[in-house]
Amino acid sequence: MKKFINVRRKGCKTPVEILVKDGMFEKIAPKIEAECEIIDLEGNIVIPPYVDPHMHLDYVYTANLGTQNGSGTLFEGIQRWSEQKEHLSIEEVKSRAIRGIQSEMKHGVQYIRTHVDVTEPNLTALKALLEVKEEVKDVVELQLVAFPQEGIYAYPRGDELMEEAMKMGADCVGGIPHYELAREFGEKSIHKIVELAVKYDRLIDVHCDETDDVQSRFLELLNALVLIEGIGNKTTASHTCSFGSADNSYAYRMMKLLKRSGINFVSCPTENIFLQGRQDTYPKRRGITRVKELHEEGINVCFAQDSMSDPWYPLGTGSMIHILDHGLHIAQMISPENIENALDFVTINGAKAMNLEHTYGIEEGKDANFIVLDAKNEFDAIAQRAGTLMSIHRGEYLFEMEPAKMKQQNSIFMR
Ligand code: FE2
Repeated sequence: MKKFINVRRKGCKTPVEILVKDGMFEKIAPKIEAECEIIDLEGNIVIPPYVDPHMHLDYVYTANLGTQNGSGTLFEGIQRWSEQKEHLSIEEVKSRAIRGIQSEMKHGVQYIRTHVDVTEPNLTALKALLEVKEEVKDVVELQLVAFPQEGIYAYPRGDELMEEAMKMGADCVGGIPHYELAREFGEKSIHKIVELAVKYDRLIDVHCDETDDVQSRFLELLNALVLIEGIGNKTTASHTCSFGSADNSYAYRMMKLLKRSGINFVSCPTENIFLQGRQDTYPKRRGITRVKELHEEGINVCFAQDSMSDPWYPLGTGSMIHILDHGLHIAQMISPENIENALDFVTINGAKAMNLEHTYGIEEGKDANFIVLDAKNEFDAIAQRAGTLMSIHRGEYLFEMEPAKMKQQNSIFMR
């Protein structure tokens, strides 16, 4: 048993205590009497673990392996990856994916949804990530999306490979309708995605309209189909960059329909501000979806890392406070009211998109999973881009940071 004292919970003015027993939250109260190990959190803020709801673990650390993405566009990224992937082996993918997971975990992430490319005849990456999922399950929860990077219909036997991925155990059905060879095939792919999700009872997460082309409106069809099937809350539309360029009358109509279905949105702010707007001169678009407006409409939106050193994006560490910082700036959401609940974008909103609400969160009876930030309140956490001091999973330390020490060299620090 462990008792954490001087715990500052989000939204609470006074500190509480948390008792952890057998890996679960046993009790959360202002004062708890118990004979056990005591850990003083000194008033630092405690939140549920970070969630990264959109990552590509089969691609991590491949940015420098082949020809570089010279244009910096999404489409050249796909081409560069296609040239590389015939050389993949299960062990090589596993080794990189685990390095990627370790990097995310160091920042306090405990839940990752990773897309896995299934447009490859041997499904090597999916086999590797299924093994990784099993190997890391005691420290991090992985969800795997069967992702047809080169299109369900643009790639030979793409639809059969998707079905095979479902049978192998992928958790979610993915798609990339804006990459199919024509709009009609993009629409056909959306029908196929929903059909597979219903047939195999899986979640949906589609790379949807990741383009500045305002004519790319696959979100509309995806939303309509999942609304009709009643599976909007099991569905995520990732990126939806073109919705950020859509005209206001179209967006107004869509907002009502998106609210009705309960569909979730993932925005990848660092990735899309880098990849999009490449055909613009000036004005140059920001490339992200309508984060602020969707959020204000009561639609679930979360932020994600997307890439770590791959042909689409050369940087990335899995630091969700870094992603949040960029997302809030790019979406123009740094007013005090916006910041008040902003940590939700990289915690509970991501958990909701991953359909984890029943197990995720700091509540008595749930798994004792939480992180401690190096800040006394939400505003400071965001303003200071606070580091993660401690990550606890099922009551056990994943890591605990030593407090940083500064050698004072100047009297200015003494004031
Ligand atoms: Fe992605």
